[in-house]
Order: sequence, then C-alpha cells, then structure tokens
Amino acid sequence: MDGTTHTEAGVPGTTTAATTMTTTTETPALPKVPYQAQDVQEVAEVLRVLDEAVKQKKRSAFTIKKTRFAVANSEAGYYVDSWKMNDWDYKRRDLPTYARGLFTTRNEHGHPSIAVRGYDKFFNINETHETRWENIEARTQGPYEITLKENGCIIFVSGLADDTLLVCSKHSTGDRGDVELSHSSAGEARLGQQLQRLGKTKQDLARDLYTRNITAVAELCDDSFEEHILAYGPDKAGLYLHGINLNLPTFRTYPSVLVQDYAEQWGFIKTELMVLNDIGEVRKFLESVAETGAHDGRDVEGFVIRCRMSPKPESMPYQDWFFKYKFEEPYLMYRQWRECTKALIQGRTPNFKRHQAITQEYLNYARKRIAANPKLGRDYNKNHGIIQLRDEFLAFKHLNGADAANFEQMYGGTSKTEVTKDVILLPIATIGCGKTTLAIALGHLFGYGHVQNDNITGTKRPPRFTRMVLDELQTHPAVIADRNNAQRHERKQILTDVKNMQLNATMVALNFVHDDIDAIRAVTHERVFARGDNHQTIHAITDAGKVVGIMEGFIQRFEPLDLSRAPDEAFDAVIDLSPTAGSRKNLETVVRQLHQLFPNLIKEVPSAEAMDAAVDAAIGEYAPALRHEIIDRGKNKGPSHTPKQNQSVKKAVNKKPLEYMGVHVAAKDVNAELERIFKGQPPATARFYKQLQQTRRVQPAFHVTLIHRASAKERPELWERYTKLHADAEAAAEAATGSVGATPPEVGKVDVQLERLVFDDRLMAIVVRLVSKDGHAGAAEAEAGQAKDWTCVNKVSHITVGTRDDKVKPKESNDLLARWLDEGSTETNGITDVVFEGKPLLQGAVRGVLSR
Ligand code: GTP
Ligand code: MG
Repeated sequence: MDGTTHTEAGVPGTTTAATTMTTTTETPALPKVPYQAQDVQEVAEVLRVLDEAVKQKKRSAFTIKKTRFAVANSEAGYYVDSWKMNDWDYKRRDLPTYARGLFTTRNEHGHPSIAVRGYDKFFNINETHETRWENIEARTQGPYEITLKENGCIIFVSGLADDTLLVCSKHSTGDRGDVELSHSSAGEARLGQQLQRLGKTKQDLARDLYTRNITAVAELCDDSFEEHILAYGPDKAGLYLHGINLNLPTFRTYPSVLVQDYAEQWGFIKTELMVLNDIGEVRKFLESVAETGAHDGRDVEGFVIRCRMSPKPESMPYQDWFFKYKFEEPYLMYRQWRECTKALIQGRTPNFKRHQAITQEYLNYARKRIAANPKLGRDYNKNHGIIQLRDEFLAFKHLNGADAANFEQMYGGTSKTEVTKDVILLPIATIGCGKTTLAIALGHLFGYGHVQNDNITGTKRPPRFTRMVLDELQTHPAVIADRNNAQRHERKQILTDVKNMQLNATMVALNFVHDDIDAIRAVTHERVFARGDNHQTIHAITDAGKVVGIMEGFIQRFEPLDLSRAPDEAFDAVIDLSPTAGSRKNLETVVRQLHQLFPNLIKEVPSAEAMDAAVDAAIGEYAPALRHEIIDRGKNKGPSHTPKQNQSVKKAVNKKPLEYMGVHVAAKDVNAELERIFKGQPPATARFYKQLQQTRRVQPAFHVTLIHRASAKERPELWERYTKLHADAEAAAEAATGSVGATPPEVGKVDVQLERLVFDDRLMAIVVRLVSKDGHAGAAEAEAGQAKDWTCVNKVSHITVGTRDDKVKPKESNDLLARWLDEGSTETNGITDVVFEGKPLLQGAVRGVLSR
C-alpha cells in the first residue's frame, strides 16, 4: 500500500471511478481513486508557519510572499491567498509544505482550507542529492510514470465551496487590470470552450473538483496565446492535463491513468504517458531519447517521471515523488543541429541563435556530406542517420559533445579542432626577419619539419620546394616552408601547387608585417652582418657590398599580405609577426596562436623556459648544411640567456672529425673568371655552362680538395699531417676566442692558378695549379699541379664547377679528368677543354671541412 495514514474512501457524492473509467479503452482495470478530506487543524498549522515566515526577516528563515486575490465570479465573495517561495528554498528540510503553487482560502464554515495545490517542487536529474541516479535507483519504487514535459504555462483548476471555478496560474489568478490577457484568464477561456463542447458547465467541474478535494494541473499550450519553443498549432493547442493533486499539505497525487481518465471526462487533452516498472529501463529510455531529442517523431523538452520515494526505505514510508529529466547541453545543441539539417535538406534557411560557430561548422560539414550522398538527406528526413551524421562530424572535429556545446567558451569559436596535421607555415618576409630561426625553434619544440628554399639548387626550384614541403608532411604534423614569399607570385605558386597536390593541407601565413621599413632595415642588417657567412647564399663577410643590395631588393619588392584577393585569400589563417620584435617574442606569438587556432595540433603551450631554450638553440647552433659546415641541431647546450648576435658563430659546438682538407677560393672570383672565359666562345661551347647556371647547378662555393677522408688509408702520413694542422689551428683559435667557431679556422694560404676548363655533358671542372706564396711550386710537385706544402692526392688538382644533377657526384671530376688526360678532348669522347687566358691567379685559403 501507499504507506500513508489517510483513509482510502471513495470520493463522496461523485460517480464512482469504476463506472466512469470503463470508457477508457487502454486500461480496463483502473486503480482506486484516492481521496482524503482536509484536516482543519493541520491546514491551520501550515498557515501559521507560513504567516510567521512572511513576517520574519531572519536570514535563516525561508522567504515567502503572500498575495491576496479576489476570486472573480464568486457569489460568496471568496478570496484566495497565493504563497510564493523562492525556488531554492524548496531544497530546505524545514518547510511545512513543499507545494509549488499553493492557494488557500476560508471555506463555507470559515475554516482555513487549501484551494489549490501544485505538485511538490521537483528537481532535474542531478540537480539535488535526491535526484542523483544512484539515489533514485536506491530509494524509489515503481511503477514509473513517464510523461512528456509539455511546453507551455501551468494552470491550476479547482472548485470553491460555492461552486465557483478557480483557475490560477502558478502564483496568481484573475486579470491584472491591464489590457493583456493573464495566463489564468486565457486558461479559463480555454476551459470554457472545452466544457461547452461536452455540454458541461464550469459549475459542474467546480463541484466535482471540490467534492474530490483536488486540484487539476494542466499545461496551457497555445501558440495563438503565447509562443514557446515547441510549436502548438490550432490542432494541438489546448489544456494538457498532466496531474491531479489532493488539496493536502503533504503531496498526494492521482496515478496517471486516472489523470488521463479525468482528462477524457472533462475535455482536457491527454498528456502522453508511458509506464515502466524498472528504473534501469527508465534510465535507458531517457538517455536514448536524449540522444535524438525527439520521441515518437515529436520534439520534447524532457520528461517528468512520477514514482514513489522514501528517504529511508527500510524505516520510512514511500510517498508520491517526481523528478524531471530535462534535456540540456549537448542535447539542445543536437536538437538545433537536427532542425537545421532538416531545413537544409528541405531548402529552407536554417535558423539558429545558439552555438553559432560550431553549428555553422556542423552545417558546412552536413551540406557537403548530403551533397555527396543524396540518400543521406532522404533518410535524414525520415529520421534515420541523425546521430550518425552528428557523431561523424564530432569525430572529424576531434570533439566530444560537451566540448562542442562549450565550443565558443573553450575556443573562442574560431578554432579548427579538426586540424591535427598537414599544416604548412608559410613566412611572408624579407632577409633576416628570423624565418630560419623560428623554424628551427619550432622544430625543437614540436618536431616540425623544415624545408629551406636556400638549400635547393638546380632547375625548377619552386615545384621542387613545394614537393619537399609536402614530403615533410608525411613524417611531421607541420612544416615551415622557409622562403621569403615576399611577392604575391611566390605565394600564388605555393598556394596553388599545394592545392593541386594535396587538397587538405592547412596554409598558415607567418606574416612578418612590414610597416616601419627603416627599423626593419636596421634590425635585419645588423643581424645579417652579425651572421656573417653563416648562410647558404647571403655571405655578409665575403660579399658585403652585394648583400646590402640583395636585402634592399627584397624590401623593395615586398608585397604585403592582402587577404581580400587572390592569392592571399587562400590562406586558412594568418599569424602577424614583427620583424623587429625578436625571435623569442615571435616564437611565442606563433605558438600561442597556433594553439588557439588548432588546439589539437598544439595541445598545450610549452613553458617560457622551453621557448627560451628553443630560441637559444636556434640562434646559437645553426649553420647551414649546404656549405658542409657544422650542424648541431636537436641539442640545446647553449646558455639560457639569448646570446649576442656575434656570438652565434663562435658558440661551442661538438668537435666533429675532418671530412676533407681543401683550398677555398672566393665564389665571386671563380664566377668572374668563368664569365670571362665563355665570353668569346661560340654558343655551342657555352651551352653546358648556361645549363648549369639556369638550373642553379653551379656550386655556391668552390674549393680544391687536397685529401678526402676516404683516402686516409692510402695516404696515412698526409692525412695525419692535415688533421694535425687542423687541430692545431683550432686549438689556437679556441685559445684566442674562448670558443670553437662554426667555420673551421684557416691553416694556411696558397694561390690557385686556373689553367683549363674541362667538361662534358655531365660535369664541369677547372684544372688548377696550386702556387705557394713564394711563387714556386716544387719541381716534382709542379708536374701534378701541386704546391710544396699543400700536397693534393688527386691526380689532377681541380675545382668542380658543377654537375648536371644530383646523380652526378662532384668526385666524378676525377674520372673525367683522368679520361681527359688519357684521351684529350675529341669529338667522340664529348670532352671539351678551354684554356684560361693569362692563367689567372686566385687567392686560396686552406681550411678543413668537418663531417656533418
Ligand atoms: P634569410 O634566410 O637570410 O632570409 O634570413 P632568415 O629570415 O632566415 O633569418 P635568420 O633566422 O637566419 O636570422 C638572421 C640572423 O639573426 C641569424 O644569425 C639569427 O641567429 C639572428 N637572429 C634571429 N632572431 C634573432 C633575435 O631575436 N635576436 C638576435 N639578436 N638575433 C637573432
Ligand atoms: Mg634563412
């Protein structure tokens, strides 16, 4: 039984439940109608406590507001008092009643009585201790009546002793005297219509309600009166009866089947009902509906679950108890997506106000998917595949539902959470802005790939550069396409090439904003001259004059980023940097903005210390690979402060073994002689040289190899001599400067005399003679073109000018020259040789070159 102490008697003076309920088709056997008369003493006590609370201003007390209303049309001149409490006060444990919506009056005997009684205030799942699932599971008892939470305004209906029908909204009744129709009056008008249809009067209903000592609780849903979120057109508008409460301080309510039966008797619309006996099933059902936000093809806001609960089932009786299951985020967002998707499919404009950014992205995604597969759209309209499409979108974005619902707050609404790889960082810069430094620092922090345009020689550089960038993406999540891209046509080249080769790469401009040109000029000049020759092409020591001109050329040709048109409009994102700010600051800007833009690419911003170290390492340890000098990337042994620019070349590096000993000659001198020698030649002779030039296959730096490591075994005493010379020079330099330089020290000087240019269609070399400073080569050594102190192990001392492509190695010069010595130059062997007029003498510096 229900465990309460009231008497179970039939309702006096009314048709008995049994006869009335037979009209219901669904439930043949209806439960007994609950009835209990009001206890004057009990009601008086409740009112006393409530009145006290009205008067009391103590902070610890609950606050309650009492408002008196005259009852319209009451012949006896009844009034009612409405008692209104704050929502949160219902969570207290000391209330005389928990009725939400309570109107009291005095009955025909002048006794205090309850005129209208709402439900006990009930809470959403997890909103209170009692509504946590584990408590619900442990303390409640079925059957569980699940009713749809209708979406309108609540209306209470009851009768007074003089047969006046009392219609109230949550806290008031009657008209407020203003022009607008009040909720209770709108409810009463509706009620009048429904009774009229049945040929019944308001008095009939009032009398029945009074006799039963009940309040009918209904939801007024009517778009013509007031629009709520869900639509109630004329066919659906009306009063949805969802509960019948006994007018008692303690909550007692009719089982839902009786409520439905009553609705039928008095012309209310029935509230949908579902009864489950097992709480596990209840939970499963609710959560499954939450997934779609729809039930039986209808939108739902949530459900109210009616059952019985005991705070302590072993010792306390069960009582009528409700909780609600309201759909919240992410379900409300899912519902919005579903509606918008349907609008999309039906060619309407999706209308949405909440979750703007993520919903827009969802719709872009959905649009593409549906366009690619129309069946998806047709099925969707029939409510198939709704969850799947949504889940696929979330997977694509690397988000879960909760994060998606918080997308705006979490990511500012601008993030591309789906980007986890294939990001190309494309600088827009001029020389010395710090592109390479930034790239190396990013490599240290995140292992990003780095492709330097300066490392590419030969023909068709731009597409090869792009290809290399894309290749790096195979093994790195992001890559820095290290090139100035100062002009629009360069940006256009890589943006379109990438698009053509790999559609889904994300292009990010590292935009070195060129506003204060004078300041930029000053900073970059200072840096580049401090860098000295430590660069593939910009050799500030060797070619000081030219370098200024090259730098200025870039600045003059610079075309600022313009996102409003092609090609720059193709960038997916832009990060503004300052060429004068310093690489540490720029690094932080890049890292933070990448994290913001692509939270799944950079999940966490590294510590300040880590960024310090990365920049220190980049500035301190870098030397370009192309000149075969020391590289010590990947390790950071630098001091934690940022080193001064001119320390960058001197910083300590690991000592590497000698690769070869060579005589180095200035590139500009060799190039000048090559220009001179070809000037008077017929085009056919100059063709291969032109080819090498146009394909950038002329070496950027020239040397005569004296001995290579590979020959150390053949000529151990010579290898030892050179190794020792190198080591001694290094020790001397270290003693003088306190550190080992990135460029090995010079061990001596020797002039290089250019004798003949020898080439076929594969490579080109200059036959040289090394001339000691005293102007003479030793007699025997002179034969092989060698100076006394600077023995060369090669049969013919030479400078390799260039090879046709990477497949032809410079050391093949030895083979060419051996053939040339044997055969000379003939039509059949394809070898050409040209004499250097006047045998020009170039200055040479003997220096070791270390292994990489
Ligand atoms: P190019 O390849 O010549 O176009 O230059 P880049 O844009 O790659 O510049 P790079 O990173 O080589 O920087 C130029 C020089 O300035 C290098 O020697 C860097 O070590 C140095 N440098 C870079 N950033 C800073 C910085 O923040 N402060 C100082 N003092 N030097 C820096
Ligand atoms: Mg660079």
